[in-house]
Amino acid sequence: MLSQEIPFADAAIYRLDEHQALVQSVDFFTPVVDDPYRFGQIAAANALSDLFAVGARPLTALNLVGFPLCKLSPDILVEILKGGAERVHAAGAVIAGGHSIEDDEPKYGLSVTGIVDPARMLTTCGCRPGDRLVLTKPLGTGFLATALKGEVLSEADISGAVDGMCTLNKQAAEVMLDVGVSACTDITGFGLVGHAVEMAQASQVVLRIDVTKLPVYPHAEDMAAIGLIPEGAYRNRDFYFPKVDGRKNCDQWHLDLLADPQTSGGLLIAVAANKTERLLRQMRATGVPACQIGEVVAESHGRLQLEIG
Ligand code: CO
Repeated sequence: MLSQEIPFADAAIYRLDEHQALVQSVDFFTPVVDDPYRFGQIAAANALSDLFAVGARPLTALNLVGFPLCKLSPDILVEILKGGAERVHAAGAVIAGGHSIEDDEPKYGLSVTGIVDPARMLTTCGCRPGDRLVLTKPLGTGFLATALKGEVLSEADISGAVDGMCTLNKQAAEVMLDVGVSACTDITGFGLVGHAVEMAQASQVVLRIDVTKLPVYPHAEDMAAIGLIPEGAYRNRDFYFPKVDGRKNCDQWHLDLLADPQTSGGLLIAVAANKTERLLRQMRATGVPACQIGEVVAESHGRLQLEIG
């Protein structure tokens, strides 16, 4: 590791000087919804998320595009790029270029660059016993995207989740920086279970999550019940469940939900107990559906503990 690198952060961080660090992240994927404009928005919000998780200000973004120009109309690509640009501008950044290749299946995402004050930067290693855990978006996008692909649900049926995936973690991050919190990560492909375990390990604490408090998008539970579980959920379960205590008392639905890989998920924040009310109040006032899902209980070798009610 280079001496200027800062570990345990969601993005790559490179310290420029005492007051400034460069923050970089990259992500792209195949369409999760049919509407190309919405897909562009979701992919961009997802790529920008790692910057907001560390408290950085996004500055520039580069488009990453794979597209079958021989099979699909270029109008579709234009819509994807418009959606991405709209979210980049909403994030306060600019599209500075990009690269595209011919590809059998459309793929879109961004390489993003931002800046953060190293003294104010958030990592996954700051959790302290007594902190409360706050989650800023509902879970269940993996089940819903799988149901959409299987044509069990329509895009209109999952509009709540689509709006959620398009939502930038910008407002949540601004409130978090204003209130002052201990640690933060964003919930994406490893599911709540994976990102929570990673944060517990980085901070060397136990995170206790009350599974009955987990916020969920409409229809997600029904889709899991009929077996519409994405492949990534099985991988997350296999890899992370050995680091999770209290699974025996949990029902199958909550275990599935914990492992469900999220697209453009919310922030998982550890915040001092006496600041939690203010954090939740300010988030809700700006339209962020934040809720308390657990607490940091003890110093240890980094595990997740589940409880019910
Ligand atoms: Co992340």
